[in-house]
Amino acid sequence: MKHFLTINDFTKDELLEILDIAIEVKNETKEGKYIHRMKDKSLAMIFEKSSTRTRVSFEVGMTQLGGHALFLSSNDTQLGRGEPLQDTARVISSMVDMVMIRTYRQDDLNKFASFSKVPVINGLTDEFHPVQLMADYMTMIEFGKSNNPKVAYIGDGNNMAHSWLMLCSKLGFELRIATPKGYEVDRDILNIAKENAKLSGAKIITSNDPKEAVKNVDVVTTDTWASMGQENEKIKREKDFQGYEVDTNLMNLARKDAIFLHCLPAYRGQEVSDNVIESKQSVVFEEAQNRLHAQKGIMIWLDRQR
Ligand code: CP
Ligand code: NVA
Repeated sequence: MKHFLTINDFTKDELLEILDIAIEVKNETKEGKYIHRMKDKSLAMIFEKSSTRTRVSFEVGMTQLGGHALFLSSNDTQLGRGEPLQDTARVISSMVDMVMIRTYRQDDLNKFASFSKVPVINGLTDEFHPVQLMADYMTMIEFGKSNNPKVAYIGDGNNMAHSWLMLCSKLGFELRIATPKGYEVDRDILNIAKENAKLSGAKIITSNDPKEAVKNVDVVTTDTWASMGQENEKIKREKDFQGYEVDTNLMNLARKDAIFLHCLPAYRGQEVSDNVIESKQSVVFEEAQNRLHAQKGIMIWLDRQR
């Protein structure tokens, strides 16, 4: 049995296999075919943080696969009242076929998985957002940006930056990360990515220079400056991130045919300007829709490993 906790747990071949399934089910869905590959199976979705895309895509994805998804907000379960994670994990996983969790600490997710009898999927932690990266790479494939791409990530060294590090270092492409001073990526995660890169041939460049980072890249991406749980740092971060907005000037330094990705929710006038997110180069809504298909790919793949 496999879990989907971080991209680092997968080989390049496994990641591409999952994406092949995702592309196949997307094509079927576009033709109106819903093949019930997970008929009568149940997915528990535990949310300790807010969500629009993750909730809708997992729930609809499971329905399209012939299964059922349960939305469990931690406020409404005994988890919110202090029932230990290991008890919750054993109880829930004895009744459902798969679990998705969105929480704060990756350690809590790992602990849940270690007590779970069924595959567990990371629906975002403070450290990683791996399901998002599968949708992002699927979007890159669709827009012809998967052949030795150069990707620039501009902004906070957060869960999205960490997940880009894992993806590039497994697949072997070039990633340039530009963060303000004091908001760099986690050193341990960077070291894991650098180790992976020795095998995959990936190139990783970190800096505090957004202009240099976007020069001639194929993909420009960013994320919110204040992630969930950092709401009280919003004002300080807005000051510290000056010069890191992906606006037309910055975008013009990338290749003419570069695409713009953003996991959403986006904050216009902060990490991205309105005219960039609304431009022809922006494929953020295709990217968001790919969450549905990429995650069906992940669930089908995990179900087959059992
Ligand atoms: N990108 C993403 O995970 O969005 P939600 O927070 O809306 O789920
Ligand atoms: N970095 C953001 C991503 C939201 C999908 C957060 O963790 O809030």
